Order: sequence, then structure tokens, then C-alpha cells
Amino acid sequence: MKHIVVLGSTGKIGKAVLEIVRAYKNEFKIIGLSTNKNKDLLREQIQEFKPLAVGVGEKDLVTLASMQQADMVVVAVVGMSGLAPTLAAIRKGKDIALATKEVLVVAGDLVMKEARKHNANIVPIDSEHSALFQSLQSGRKNEIKRLILTMGKGPIAKMKKKELRNVTIKDIRNRPVWDMGSKIMIDSATCLNKSFEVIEARWLFEVSPEQISIVVHPEYICHSLVEYKDGSIITELGTPDMKRYIQYALFYPKRKEMRVTKGIDLVGKKLSFEKAPFEKFPGLHLGFDAIKKGGTMPAVLHGADEAAVKSFYDEEIAFVDIPQVIKNTMDSHEVTQNPTLKNILEAEIWAQTYARSFISQMKNE
Ligand SMILES: NC(=O)c1ccc[n+]([C@@H]2O[C@H](COP(=O)([O-])OP(=O)(O)OC[C@H]3O[C@@H](n4cnc5c(N)ncnc54)[C@H](OP(=O)(O)O)[C@@H]3O)[C@@H](O)[C@H]2O)c1
Repeated sequence: MKHIVVLGSTGKIGKAVLEIVRAYKNEFKIIGLSTNKNKDLLREQIQEFKPLAVGVGEKDLVTLASMQQADMVVVAVVGMSGLAPTLAAIRKGKDIALATKEVLVVAGDLVMKEARKHNANIVPIDSEHSALFQSLQSGRKNEIKRLILTMGKGPIAKMKKKELRNVTIKDIRNRPVWDMGSKIMIDSATCLNKSFEVIEARWLFEVSPEQISIVVHPEYICHSLVEYKDGSIITELGTPDMKRYIQYALFYPKRKEMRVTKGIDLVGKKLSFEKAPFEKFPGLHLGFDAIKKGGTMPAVLHGADEAAVKSFYDEEIAFVDIPQVIKNTMDSHEVTQNPTLKNILEAEIWAQTYARSFISQMKNE
């Protein structure tokens, strides 16, 4: 029986984790749960799963992640709050099921070095990375030609370039397939989320920026692909349901039959692929720019995005200003190579502050 700690158990991913655990009672024992503020739901979860420890707020996450009895820690909190507990769990040699992509976006090099040092497996929950992780079981690292991340084509992606200036938060909420929170919805619309995924893939799979590419795949059936040197392209196809990826991470390295999600009947389905819209969405370049510069730059990309998304949400800047604010902040940053955790955290905060002052200037012009 796997002993599991779920950080962020009251969130979308956390609740889906518990749904799977509920469906496979003999396979898992929940030993730790946490929320930020939703104590009512946490109380219900405590009654049902009877964990050994629980946490409320960011201060408790490291203690939970370090629990001696834990075999696996699911990191499904939001943003930078996932970084310290992920490092703590890695240093105790725990397996990590990682949903909080920001952990690898801001500190991927450092986190993966620690994971290798402490023999901790990191299994991604993000659908694209789970698809790559699964497809990578077909070959060796030195046989990879490139990783191809897929991206969908929602209503914003279908707009003409000149229409993007008037995009509102209401347009962004009108998403076709995945159900997600406001920050990630805005990041998906600007394509910054895809940039984060590029950074995540670079560190998780130890590939160079040149070995990562992006294609548009409007049907949401193929969830990313690995092209090997011999020309074979291996992929993962299935329903766009996060529960499939969470189940894979929880059971890894085994596979079990589906109980909480459905499979797909491919008969009559079409798969198509289109060129990625780099020209229309400048946000798509920024992840590549950040990993080419390296060091503290990805943390700066993340910090600037936090500030820009908040200003867009508060209706202070336009949709198309978001990548501009981030690019300007990145251009003004002096990179520290081989950064320590302290350098990374400072760079992230610097970027938020710089981006906010740039936004104030824009508003006054
Ligand atoms: N949802 C998706 O489809 C999806 C897909 C791929 C990756 N992800 C990534 O997975 C992560 C979780 O996403 P989600 O959609 O599950 O988010 P969510 O619904 O907002 O849930 C986040 C969870 O973390 C807790 N939390 C938030 N801030 C915290 C803090 N500062 N300290 C401690 N706990 C905190 C929340 O507590 P409260 O309940 O009190 O707010 C909640 O339990 C994100 O990084 C996201 O980018 C999500």
C-alpha cells in the first residue's frame, strides 16, 4: 500500500487525487492533507481519509512533505508555495507526483539536481508532460531527436491578431475543454502556459531548448509526442481528463484499469496538426528565450507574468500588453548563472516589482 501526502487536497487536482484514492482503497493510504483556507472541506476529508497529519496554509507544507511514513508526495498547491515542500520531499528521497509546474519553471535545474542526488522520482501530472514521460518509455535519452508539445485551439487562438487587443477576462473564461482556475486560464490564452511547459520539459527530461518544439492540435486527443532519431514518433492518445494523468502518476510504474474516467473510441476521430502561432502570440517565444538565457531568467519570466496577469485581471492593462510587460522585464534583468535558491527567489520578487513599475509607467503614458 502506497502512503500518500496530498498538498493542496482541497483544490481541483487534489480533489481528483482523492477521488482516485477512494476508488482504489486497497492500494493507497492517505497520511497527510492540506488546504490554504478551505477548512470546511478539509474537515470532511479528514473524516473520510483519517490522515496522520494535516496542514492549513503555506507554513505547514514542508512538515507534511517531510513525513517519515510518506512514500509519495502529491504537490498540487499553487505557484511558488510548491517549491519549498517539493525540495523538502526530494531531500527525504520521496517520490513526487508533481502538478505545480511553477516548481520546475522557476527552479527546474536546482530541483532536478536535488532529485538525482537523492534518487527521488518526479512523475509529472501535467497532461503534456505525462504524455511525454509515457512516450519516453520507448527509447533512451540519447535517442531523442525532439519533444513535441501539443497545444489546443480555443476561441482566443481562433481570433485574428487585431482582435486580441480587446480580449476580456469573460472571453477567456469561455474555454472549450479543460476546466481550470483564473490564472492558468489567462496563461493558456496568452500562451504563457505553453512557455511554462517548455521550461518544465527542458528540466524534467534534460533536453536542450533546440530539442523542444510546439504544434497546434485542435482535437485534444494527442497530448504531446516524442520524435526519436530513427524517425519514429511515439505519442499518448486519450480523453482530455486530468484524472487519467493523476492515476498514472499515483500508480507509477504500474498501470491499472480505469475506474473514475473513460477511455476513447478512436473510430471516426480525426487527428490534425498545425504550425504553432508564434507570430500571433509573442508569449510563445518567451519560454524558449528564458531557457536559452538560463540561470535566473525563468524565475523572472514567472514573476513578471504574475504581475502582468494580475494587472490584466484588474483591468489595468490589455491582453496584448501581458507579453510586452514580461519581455520588457526579462530584457532588463541581469542573469545570475547557476543560481542558489536565494538568487531564484530574489529574482522572482525583483521581476514582480519591476513589472509592476513598468505597468504604472504604461498607465501614466
Ligand atoms: N487544474 C488543472 O487542470 C491543472 C492541470 C495541470 C497542472 N495544474 C497545476 O496544478 C496546480 C494546482 O492546480 P489546481 O487547479 O488544483 O489549483 P486550485 O484548484 O486552485 O487548488 C490549489 C490547492 O492548493 C491550496 N493552496 C493555494 N495556495 C496555497 C498556499 N499559498 N499555501 C498552501 N496551500 C495553498 C489550495 O487551498 P484552498 O482550497 O484553500 O484555496 C488548494 O488546496 C497548479 O500549479 C496548476 O498550474 C493544474
